Amino acid sequence: MDVSSLFSLKDRMALVTGAGSGIGQAIALGFAQAGAKVLAVGHSSIEETKEKANAKGLDIVTITADLSKEEGVRSIVDFALKTMGRVDVLAYVAGTIRRTPAEKHSLEDWDAVMALNLRSAFLMSQLVGQDMLSRGYGKIIHIASMLTFMGGMNVVSYAASKSGIAGLVRTLANEWGGRGINVNAIAPGWIKTKLTSALQADPNRYNTILSRIPAGRWGEPEDLVGAAIFLASRASDYVNGHILVVDGGYLARG
Ligand SMILES: NC(=O)c1ccc[n+]([C@@H]2O[C@H](COP(=O)([O-])OP(=O)(O)OC[C@H]3O[C@@H](n4cnc5c(N)ncnc54)[C@H](OP(=O)(O)O)[C@@H]3O)[C@@H](O)[C@H]2O)c1
Repeated sequence: MDVSSLFSLKDRMALVTGAGSGIGQAIALGFAQAGAKVLAVGHSSIEETKEKANAKGLDIVTITADLSKEEGVRSIVDFALKTMGRVDVLAYVAGTIRRTPAEKHSLEDWDAVMALNLRSAFLMSQLVGQDMLSRGYGKIIHIASMLTFMGGMNVVSYAASKSGIAGLVRTLANEWGGRGINVNAIAPGWIKTKLTSALQADPNRYNTILSRIPAGRWGEPEDLVGAAIFLASRASDYVNGHILVVDGGYLARG
């Protein structure tokens, strides 16, 4: 076994969503540094990712789309297959959250969160999966959450969507594991991104969470890159339907 290339993504074609900021941006840049050709999909903007990639001389194609819509998902997969010829790795990182108490959580908020976090996560997996199945090779990575394992507060649609990711990942792994496709998820702990800005801005919440993280700090987007490269590379060829927790030990506290 050639251990030196276990984590290489050389010549892999990778599609990364949510790549305009936070965890998705870190993963897109990380994949490119590991040798992949990356299509980085942003939403409102992808400029910062493009600038960071250029500064490092990385091979990244950028595009924006609204992935909460079926047409957005279909057009991005079409574009990926046209520009890259195939997709070896899909990291579906796009996600959104709505914070309101459950008794006031509107159906609009529920639908918006479910559309992006779960419905489109499934559709993109299905479309990319069809291409991967035709070639008998592929790595699909979804993003779960601490709220895949525990109930949240004031984020009922988000918690439901991230619990749904566990069912999606395990079922796809069951169906496709024997056909060369690895489907797994990463469950980040508390990471400093736009998604958690409301918690970071509330000193009480920020410090209460911090006091329960054995690593002694909130996570940075870059903390997820190693796990993502592992799940995208040959190193994880016998890892199927797993939810890899990267949380500084938060769940271990119980
Ligand atoms: N931060 C955490 O502590 C944490 C913990 C567990 C799981 N996660 C998950 O990690 C993933 C990345 O989140 P993050 O923390 O890195 O926060 P983030 O920086 O806000 O990233 C979310 C990304 O999703 C994109 N997005 C939102 N709506 C979209 C749409 N309709 N179409 C396409 N893309 C859309 C956003 O683009 P725009 O900003 O341009 O709209 C943004 O780039 C999410 O799935 C999130 O649920 C985060």
